Amino acid sequence: MKKLLISVIAFALVGGASMSVLASPAKDLKEFRAYFFKRFPGVPLQEYANGIYAIDKNRRIEWEAMEEFPPYEPAVDIGKDLFERYNVGKCFKNGGIGIRQNYPYFNKKTGKVHTLEGDLMACLKKNGVDLKKEKIKYKKGKFAAISAYMAYTSRGKKLNVVVPNDPRALKIYNRGKTHFYAKRGQLNFSCADCHMYQAGMMVRTNLLSPALGHVTHFPVYRKKWEFKGKGALGGLGTIQRRYGGCNKQVRAKPLKAKGKQHPEYVALEFFHSYMSNGIKINAPGVRQ
Ligand code: HEC
Repeated sequence: MKKLLISVIAFALVGGASMSVLASPAKDLKEFRAYFFKRFPGVPLQEYANGIYAIDKNRRIEWEAMEEFPPYEPAVDIGKDLFERYNVGKCFKNGGIGIRQNYPYFNKKTGKVHTLEGDLMACLKKNGVDLKKEKIKYKKGKFAAISAYMAYTSRGKKLNVVVPNDPRALKIYNRGKTHFYAKRGQLNFSCADCHMYQAGMMVRTNLLSPALGHVTHFPVYRKKWEFKGKGALGGLGTIQRRYGGCNKQVRAKPLKAKGKQHPEYVALEFFHSYMSNGIKINAPGVRQ
């Protein structure tokens, strides 16, 4: 009897797992948007590109002042120079210009999801850039500047991430979705706890932004990331740098990119980006 019960439970679990593989990204997206539309009535879809500034009038005034002399502008110029110096255009469609909105994408040949920044790193290696000498690392500095320039050339284009109906793509999508909704860290919070269910509320001194539209303004220039001696590049960070920061907020260990991006963050970026489809790229952004 006990054995039977166990196999019934096991069957239910397997059944459950295959159900989630059948989950429909299109349906998820519809529900995700509907949640925020209900929560913040009157905020139009495109406004979500602006994070907390879409939902808080006072912060918006501060932000508009920051945007008058955008602190990321010098970094975008540096990014453009590096983009040209390292021949980055050679590795991408359309010479790397105006393509940010199509990332991350699923590659049918390799069965993998590619982020723009994953492909950028592969490109620098392929072009023989001496990463050590040039002090190039994932997530910040020069690397984030090149990505910021590429995003800048894509401003105004609607995010258009495709999750094809391929079990390999759906598996990665589901891994990202699971990361987004799973509680983690000593504080036991999920991304969704802060950026969906408590969006618009305060956590300590921070107002929590809606997850809808999150990725559109990355890389971001943050006051908090500025550090001495790094000039214009000091404050820049990629979306995966931010994931690490938010993992730390709940006292979970941020995942490191060792040679390549962590597959867990790649999956998260795939899901997280897909959820913002249809929103225009306005990167780089400026944040506190
Ligand atoms: C304990 C609450 C908390 C959790 C959990 C959390 N974050 Fe955050 N996150 C914040 C705070 C606070 C900020 C800064 C204010 C803001 O923009 O929301 C932030 C900012 C961000 C931003 C930048 C928003 C912008 O407009 O620049 C992104 C992206 C983000 N979080 C993603 C995530 C993801 C993905 C997860 C799950 C891995 C996560 N966060 C988990 C608190 C949290």
